[in-house]
Amino acid sequence: MSDDLAIYHATVLSNAEIAPEHRVMRMSAPEIAARALPGQFVMVRALGTADPLLPRAYSVYAADPTAGWIEVLYRVVGNGTRRLELYEASQKVHVWGPLGNAFQAPQGRAILVGGGVGIPPLSFWAQHLAGSDAEVVTLIGAATERFLVGLDRFRESGSRLETATDDGSAGHKGYVTDLLDRWLDAGPATVYACGPMPMLRSVARIVEARGVPAELALEAPMACGVGACLGCTVPRREGGYARVCTDGPVFAATAIAW
Ligand code: FES
Repeated sequence: MSDDLAIYHATVLSNAEIAPEHRVMRMSAPEIAARALPGQFVMVRALGTADPLLPRAYSVYAADPTAGWIEVLYRVVGNGTRRLELYEASQKVHVWGPLGNAFQAPQGRAILVGGGVGIPPLSFWAQHLAGSDAEVVTLIGAATERFLVGLDRFRESGSRLETATDDGSAGHKGYVTDLLDRWLDAGPATVYACGPMPMLRSVARIVEARGVPAELALEAPMACGVGACLGCTVPRREGGYARVCTDGPVFAATAIAW
């Protein structure tokens, strides 16, 4: 376990709905806020209940080291997130982190590709890169317009933004990966992606065919977050398995056996 790991009964500062089924929880966690980097995650567990017993992993959506808070963005889909949804300001949750590795600086333009609940680490990365020389392009996909969440933060960071929806209700009608080739034609770039496995597989296929460097933030069920339970493994291309929690969650696209 990392010496840098901070464990808290963190005070919830806000827990606001930002779109249907999507909420952002801000919590006071100064030591995590001081160290969290884009791509890293925290484990969060409701206090005072055994249901659900296990914590869940959430990518850090934003962190303010000065004010001492972090945010996670979550979709309300199961018992754990339905319990989290009920939290109000001043209540406490159990949180520990930051965990895992982080994105590395881009070579050339940074192209961020996100789908589903893969937005949080990319949004944090876009905010981080806003203070650098890197040009940032963000491509976000969702099933339909109402599930395109968190776009304002990408705009506020100065990123160019394009969207895709399966039903054509906003942006390009089709897959978000359909938008990638044109930007890869436009010059040297590093791709960063987070989202459902089929989307990541598609990104990996595209960047490998072009020899473009890419870092993909994987999601996996995580019971411990610190390498102990082996519940989060994915097959490595070179053989064997990687733990998403401690070997990732950020991997080179070429590292995984897709
Ligand atoms: Fe337990 Fe990764 S979550 S080993």
